[in-house]
Amino acid sequence: MNNYTLGKSSVKVPEQVFGCWAIGGTYFTGAEDAKSIAAIKSAIDHGIYALDTAPAYGGGHSENLVREAIKGYDRDKITISTKLPTHLLARPDVRPSCEQSLRDLGQDYIDIYFIHWPSRKGDPIADTMDELMKLKAEGKIRCIGLSNFSKAQIIEAEQYGEIDVLQPCWSLIWRYQDNDSLAYAEEKGIGVMNYSPLAQGILTGKFHRDQVFPEGDGRNRAAIFQQPYLNQAVDFTESLRPYAEKYGVTLAQLAIRMCMQESFITAPIVGAKRPEQVEDNVKACSFEISPDDFAAIDKLSRDFAYALPAFRNFFNP
Ligand SMILES: NC(=O)c1ccc[n+]([C@@H]2O[C@H](COP(=O)([O-])OP(=O)(O)OC[C@H]3O[C@@H](n4cnc5c(N)ncnc54)[C@H](OP(=O)(O)O)[C@@H]3O)[C@@H](O)[C@H]2O)c1
Repeated sequence: MNNYTLGKSSVKVPEQVFGCWAIGGTYFTGAEDAKSIAAIKSAIDHGIYALDTAPAYGGGHSENLVREAIKGYDRDKITISTKLPTHLLARPDVRPSCEQSLRDLGQDYIDIYFIHWPSRKGDPIADTMDELMKLKAEGKIRCIGLSNFSKAQIIEAEQYGEIDVLQPCWSLIWRYQDNDSLAYAEEKGIGVMNYSPLAQGILTGKFHRDQVFPEGDGRNRAAIFQQPYLNQAVDFTESLRPYAEKYGVTLAQLAIRMCMQESFITAPIVGAKRPEQVEDNVKACSFEISPDDFAAIDKLSRDFAYALPAFRNFFNP
């Protein structure tokens, strides 16, 4: 397992990060706490010691599960990232929100504190960053990250403090949103932890055309899961199968590995609800896609992703 340091900080992440959204129990259906905790432990035991969570993932439940799962592990060897919710970016809300996450996580400090989304109500980023820099100076957070920010928004935030890592949505299926910010991160040495690298399961190849999800599953309303895009995405995923077979890997491993070999990505954040999924996904760390195959898969991905309409985000129709 390779390890990387984020931006100018001293925060380390392994080449794959464990995503704790699905285990929060909102959006994705079917999570069971015992299996979620086992999945986190399995990730850590396989060297995936960085865990990405947020208050939004089950209203604190995901953070609580992280707290339970990491008991008994050496805290210094775990990297925890959580997020400042978009509706709490106003100056008076920043510190209480951070302190709530610290309580829910049962920790004294957070390694990476992301602003989850840019403000939707015009909160000045100068104020938010100022409060975050104070929390950093006090040791409550070790570095600051931005999620779902455009290049212009990143540059604005950087005027008020160091940004060490970005968290954009990026996969072989959904890659076109603001590529400017990714090139900018690469140029400036800012870390990139991309989310939804399996396109919420599509790239595992387990979904079929006209797939229906259980009632209450957020995938029923997400843009890529609507027709005709879902069937197109399923067909695109099938077009990758010969490459997976060539390397003797699963489609999930191929999709994750493509992220890992993408030059501007530091580490993909891969979501999972069960240890078996972790055991599948971690094997993406154990093989290498050749430059020719990388270019060929990359072209298939671009041809697919760039033909999609410019959806606002992954989660809403
Ligand atoms: N900053 C943000 O705005 C933001 C937004 C979204 C996500 N994130 C972060 O990124 C992480 C990953 O994104 P994500 O959870 O949206 O999507 P993802 O990683 O693309 O997909 C995760 C889902 O795919 C399925 N899966 C995973 N491994 C599998 C395997 N080996 N075989 C079969 N199915 C498998 C599981 O769902 P099922 O078993 O239910 O099919 C799992 O919950 C999140 O957990 C979160 O930490 C951040």
